[in-house]
Amino acid sequence: MAGEPLTTLWDDILSNNLHADGGVYFPKGKKPEALLKRVLELATNPGDWVLDSFAGSGTTGAVAHKMGRRWIMVELGEHCHTHIIPRLRRVIDGEDPSGVTGATNWKGGGGFRYYRLAPSLLERDKWGNWVINKEYNAGMLAEAVCKLEGFQYAPSDTVYWQHGHSTERDFIYVTTAHLSHEQLQQLSDEVGPDRTLLVLCTAFRAKPDRYPNLTVKKIPKAVLSRCEWGHDDYSLRVENLPKAPLKKGQMDLGLDGGKASTPEGGASHGR
Ligand SMILES: C[S@@+](CC[C@H](N)C(=O)[O-])C[C@H]1O[C@@H](n2cnc3c(N)ncnc32)[C@H](O)[C@@H]1O
Repeated sequence: MAGEPLTTLWDDILSNNLHADGGVYFPKGKKPEALLKRVLELATNPGDWVLDSFAGSGTTGAVAHKMGRRWIMVELGEHCHTHIIPRLRRVIDGEDPSGVTGATNWKGGGGFRYYRLAPSLLERDKWGNWVINKEYNAGMLAEAVCKLEGFQYAPSDTVYWQHGHSTERDFIYVTTAHLSHEQLQQLSDEVGPDRTLLVLCTAFRAKPDRYPNLTVKKIPKAVLSRCEWGHDDYSLRVENLPKAPLKKGQMDLGLDGGKASTPEGGASHGR
């Protein structure tokens, strides 16, 4: 009732039309957009980040988006593709008249990036040592390590040691091999004086500073050095999250500090 204090029992926003919210069918789990709107009004300001790590049909993100909040949703189910992405696309395209669209005067706009989480790169063997997860093939490993080391993954068809680059002259080579001095010397000769190469291998038999154009590191040590435990601040240290150029007619609204972009193996959407 207007003028009365809000209690913890919110029966004034029970939706008679919940099934229509967001245009997605998600029985026994979907929350009303009006409920999320009240929660976000109480707890956040425009531009704040909202996290829902059990996204379901995507109600939290849809409402946060309509209210000018930034959002992160996590979902393990296939309805990520069947419900959440289509729902948020309709919100962005201004094609979702349901839920709190009227109450927020939402007309469309913004964008999102979609990432698929890879399996853990490292696992423990039976002696408790960190080893590379068996689910990783050579391509996945190279791509993951490129990302951790801040290199652009761009494997060469012709040069076996060029898996990625950070500049035109700085390359990365990722291998599960144990490299001998002869192999490292051969690499160093091929790289030559005008280029540099970061070599990530599981072991090497040589003094790593012996080759002026090579930096040699061991996996998993190099990967573990990127992992942090027991911190209060878990800011993502991955430097080159993929960003795709804006499509014709797309506008960067700066909602996520970057541009709407094509993710790995997933979808992106922006307007
Ligand atoms: C009850 S639903 C959330 C409904 C949501 N509030 C809405 O309005 O649509 C909970 C969701 O959490 C997901 N889930 C459960 N465990 C998870 C996990 N470990 N990581 C990510 N999602 C998870 C389930 O697949 C399910 O879709």
